Amino acid sequence: MLTSPAMWRFLQPVRHSLPAARWPSAGEAAASRLFSPVDVGNVRLDERTWVPAMVPWRATDDGFVTPDNLDWYGRFASGRPGAIVVEATGVRDVPSGPLLRIGHDRFIPGLARLVERVRLASGGHTRLFIQIIDFLSVRRRPDPAKYFARFLDVTDRHRRAIADLTGADRWTSASDDDVRAFLGAAADDVLVHVLGEREIESLRFGYRERVTDTHLDHIRSLPEVLPPIFAAAAVRAREAGFDGVELHFAHAYTMASFLSARNTREDGYGGAREQRVRLPLEVYEAVRESVGGDYVVGCRFLGDEVIEGGNRIDDAVYFGRRFAAAGFDFLSVSKGGKFEDAKQPKVGQAVYPYTGRSGYECMPTVNSDEKGPFGRNVSLAAAIRRAIRKDGVSTPIVTAGGIGTFDEAEALLAREDADVVGFARQALADPDWFEKVRRGLGSEVRRCEFTNYCEGLDQMHKQVTCKLWDRVDLDEPDIAMSEDGRRRLVAPSWRR
Ligand SMILES: Cc1cc2nc3c(=O)[nH]c(=O)nc-3n(C[C@H](O)[C@H](O)[C@H](O)COP(=O)(O)O)c2cc1C
Ligand code: SF4
Repeated sequence: MLTSPAMWRFLQPVRHSLPAARWPSAGEAAASRLFSPVDVGNVRLDERTWVPAMVPWRATDDGFVTPDNLDWYGRFASGRPGAIVVEATGVRDVPSGPLLRIGHDRFIPGLARLVERVRLASGGHTRLFIQIIDFLSVRRRPDPAKYFARFLDVTDRHRRAIADLTGADRWTSASDDDVRAFLGAAADDVLVHVLGEREIESLRFGYRERVTDTHLDHIRSLPEVLPPIFAAAAVRAREAGFDGVELHFAHAYTMASFLSARNTREDGYGGAREQRVRLPLEVYEAVRESVGGDYVVGCRFLGDEVIEGGNRIDDAVYFGRRFAAAGFDFLSVSKGGKFEDAKQPKVGQAVYPYTGRSGYECMPTVNSDEKGPFGRNVSLAAAIRRAIRKDGVSTPIVTAGGIGTFDEAEALLAREDADVVGFARQALADPDWFEKVRRGLGSEVRRCEFTNYCEGLDQMHKQVTCKLWDRVDLDEPDIAMSEDGRRRLVAPSWRR
């Protein structure tokens, strides 16, 4: 059970059991809203079930699709959900570890194989979108000695602060080496006095770039650089055969940071909401112009950032209305997942944006508060949907967060809270959920326990699996195993 004890700091400690599930007969499922079709732009989903993006840590170190990626998506596709969104895939042609990339044409053949695999495994029933993402630099938390010896940029501000603190004026002309040595040996309260806020953060959490670091050329120029990069990535997605792209405007990454109320850029891309939404809309326009009006372009964004000074639902409603009016083909609403409230990582590890309260809200667990984790985020999607419908726009809205049963999904569709239901961890726990429920065999579903073993693996950049099946039937012939040799990489076949 990997839910952090720190969780208790911000939640009432209430452990929830899974709600009892009533499963429909095949006939009831066939007549349900959940298993009815919905149009997403020019693409028709056979049903309103959706597997949201999940990074499985299966790509090569150069960002190429591997056989393990094919197996991962093929396994989800064999349950024939209405749509699958391929994990966050980097739009730039820069190294980013074993995360998929789409920043160059050399990635197209591998991605095309992935599309082909999903088509085959789903018998052509599942539509496939790919989430495309940009992120800024995040470094690992440094060893303090190394930080002072190598990374800190020594300035006169440090010399002055040390001189003030020690009462020794000679520090105002001390060498860089002397300043580094002094700080390397200094106590915490001294460091707080001498270092700036960002330097303290870099020391304690690792250096992390912000969209507001406009003194850096590559950050200042993001509004010119990003639209064509996203547009080129979307064109590659179309060439690889994806049914559409999901622009990643959520969680801790570049585009969400432009939308954030904490974006104080003064170049017309920060400050008021109208300005914060400007770059996301310019990215959309560039993508749309490049892929054409008939290609599905959606986005994922936050209904609530869940951080101090961050966006709340009223901001999200404003952004949702602007996105819908601009012509996005779907809007997928997520919550939280920010760096700002993340836990301090260990030395040598990078800060992970799902460890604080906002992280909890993104992937809620059964260790919760009175409200509990089940369907916890639906109200955000509902508020956004209501506002968009009032504007007379019919953009489909996707919700996700702690949804695992047919009744939960059907009820939220009946209330018109959303148009499509995302099952991320439940699909990981049982990729056959969709097929089982469709056939009236819901009692055979392996239900997600929402305790986040999978998320713990993601945090450690380990191949993601589910605790309910990764040690099961290990003697099956030809199964792919994790690097540590202890876990199978995809769920066992459903023996009907
Ligand atoms: C292992 C793992 C990886 C994830 N990776 C992504 C991702 O690449 N992009 C994204 O938008 N959300 C990602 N998420 C969040 C899920 O898409 C989803 O929003 C979240 O798990 C809540 O939905 P659920 O309760 O149905 O799991 C990830 C979640 C998990 C568990
Ligand atoms: S998918 Fe599996 S590992 Fe992840 S929360 Fe559900 S039961 Fe746990």
